Amino acid sequence: MTKLMLRALAGETLPTPPIWMMRQAGRYLPEYRATRAQAGDFLSLCYNPELAAEVTLQPIGRYGFDAAILFADILLVPQALGADLWFVTGEGPRLSTITTAEDMQRLRPADAIHERLDPIYQTVRILSRELPAETTLIGFAGAPWTVATYMIAGRGTKDQGPAHALKDTDRATFTALIERITEATILYLSRQIEAGAEVVKLFDSWAGSLKGRDFDDFALAPAKRIIAALKERHPGIPVIAFPREAGDRYVGFGAAVGADCVALDNSVSAEWAAQHVQVDGCVQGNMDPRHMVTGGPELVAEAQRITRALRGGPHVFNLGHGITPDADPDNVARMIEAVRSA
Ligand code: CP3
Repeated sequence: MTKLMLRALAGETLPTPPIWMMRQAGRYLPEYRATRAQAGDFLSLCYNPELAAEVTLQPIGRYGFDAAILFADILLVPQALGADLWFVTGEGPRLSTITTAEDMQRLRPADAIHERLDPIYQTVRILSRELPAETTLIGFAGAPWTVATYMIAGRGTKDQGPAHALKDTDRATFTALIERITEATILYLSRQIEAGAEVVKLFDSWAGSLKGRDFDDFALAPAKRIIAALKERHPGIPVIAFPREAGDRYVGFGAAVGADCVALDNSVSAEWAAQHVQVDGCVQGNMDPRHMVTGGPELVAEAQRITRALRGGPHVFNLGHGITPDADPDNVARMIEAVRSA
């Protein structure tokens, strides 16, 4: 009996989709906040394999999701490459910046990342042992463009301005950075797969700000290279690509990069995606995370509308972006019930 999640990713049309949720281990859960306090802070939690495995398992125990996603962060790769990383409470991540050829020279080579990332592989090993037999383990990394936007600006930005500026004024440094992250990502995800990840997901949260040829060169091409390298090393490993807010560039994206599933944000409609994206294979998504805050009959109606719209092909039910800290944990159970009874 193959796991539900793996069946959907293999292209099977199922009567009830597998369900998981981005940021399912997170601050909306009191048990997560307690374990984070025990670890000290967010980064200490990421690097503590026992506690990181514990928070990964919390939403599985509470709700019975079909998949668990490794608890870590996309910014651990820049840190492993030698960037300084810290989190400012209430504001988000801060990093030392990469804006010149000299900064690039100070970064470590891609194959030096494992030293720092070893606890993450240990978390994957614990999870692959402890997850229920029916639950699929997802590993992940940030896509090169999204990771580069944080490394260049040193923080999250609304319009990714500093990364666009470097791309447009110092192409050599920018492409060297994309290249370094691409190589590191291949090595990082390979190790996660060797440690027991059954699926990997590539988060390109800022893909939507790349237009035209830039989208081809810096969203599509790196994803294609990473996926090809992973599939060569690990034949059959399913990959989910998430080019968030790609809009009409969602069309054909999965086939172009060689992904088994394309994750949709909630700026596209499920009905549109059924016609234009799901025709090529599995899609994941895409309920607006605000319903997890507001709940009510709208939550049920939305979950069922999306489930029905995507029922004609392979589908993994998810939100269009991460669940927010102000979400009501009871709404998660209501969502699952709505999807399974749609
Ligand atoms: O989905 C999951 O549950 C798996 C774990 C995971 C986290 N971050 C945990 C986290 C994953 C897959 C990520 C991805 C991630 N991290 C992305 C891409 C997806 C997206 O959300 O767009 C990005 C851009 C980051 C970088 C990052 N990490 C930011 C901008 C922040 C601060 C914003 C925030 O929500 O607080 C983080 C912190 C972070 N990563 C938290 C969690 C649970 C909250 C930390 C805390 O406990 O205070």
